[in-house]
Amino acid sequence: MTNLHAPMQQSKLQNYNSTRGAEAYKADYQNKLHRKWSDKRERALLTSYFRRIGHVGSLLDLPCGHGRLSDFLKSQCDTLVEGDWSHTMVGLNLRDHGQDHRHYVRASALEIPFPDRTFDVVVSFRLSHHLETQELRERHLRELFRVSKKHVIVTWFSATSLKNILRQVRVKLAGKKPKHVLHNQRVRALAAEAGYTQELAKPLFLIGSGHMLGLYTRK
Ligand SMILES: C[S@@+](CC[C@H](N)C(=O)[O-])C[C@H]1O[C@@H](n2cnc3c(N)ncnc32)[C@H](O)[C@@H]1O
Repeated sequence: MTNLHAPMQQSKLQNYNSTRGAEAYKADYQNKLHRKWSDKRERALLTSYFRRIGHVGSLLDLPCGHGRLSDFLKSQCDTLVEGDWSHTMVGLNLRDHGQDHRHYVRASALEIPFPDRTFDVVVSFRLSHHLETQELRERHLRELFRVSKKHVIVTWFSATSLKNILRQVRVKLAGKKPKHVLHNQRVRALAAEAGYTQELAKPLFLIGSGHMLGLYTRK
């Protein structure tokens, strides 16, 4: 795969692709309090989103990582496809979750190897804020909208979140690196261009996190 397929900062990517990095990401969610909180909140939001959507036939989870959400997502669909750029993550996920109505693929979320409207639902958690340019973050969204038939659930880091506003101050005063953000309005506009309406867009937390969770439905 080229940098176009996986343009995340190389050191981060290498980490996710190494056995040690993949295992460490998994362990974080078992051991670190803030990870446990955000995991709990994400599941609560996802549960409310799926209450609107209902049980579906097919679902793509990209990037799936080690399969943090695999069991939850499997309970919402007949067939689950788990995909990630990191073959180590895909391998770990397969080892932990097996193949009963679950399929695994090494794939880039920037060039998803499926035709238009393949899945009832496409889910993409915690990738957007790793993509280093606006162009890539938008390309990611367009790909999700393209391969979904009905719904897209996606996270991004909000440009207007308190966390980002505070970061911008530190960028100016302390030379910190800017976050990889999207304006909520721009996400809605891209959805509209692709033929979707925004049903819900909720912050993970109002303070301490800039992550948004959006639900989009094809018109
Ligand atoms: C922070 S993890 C999120 C994993 C999972 N969605 C979750 O919430 O636990 C980011 C994942 O994105 C994967 N990744 C990075 N660039 C990617 C790309 N272009 N396409 C697909 N996956 C990518 C990494 O290998 C890593 O597993």
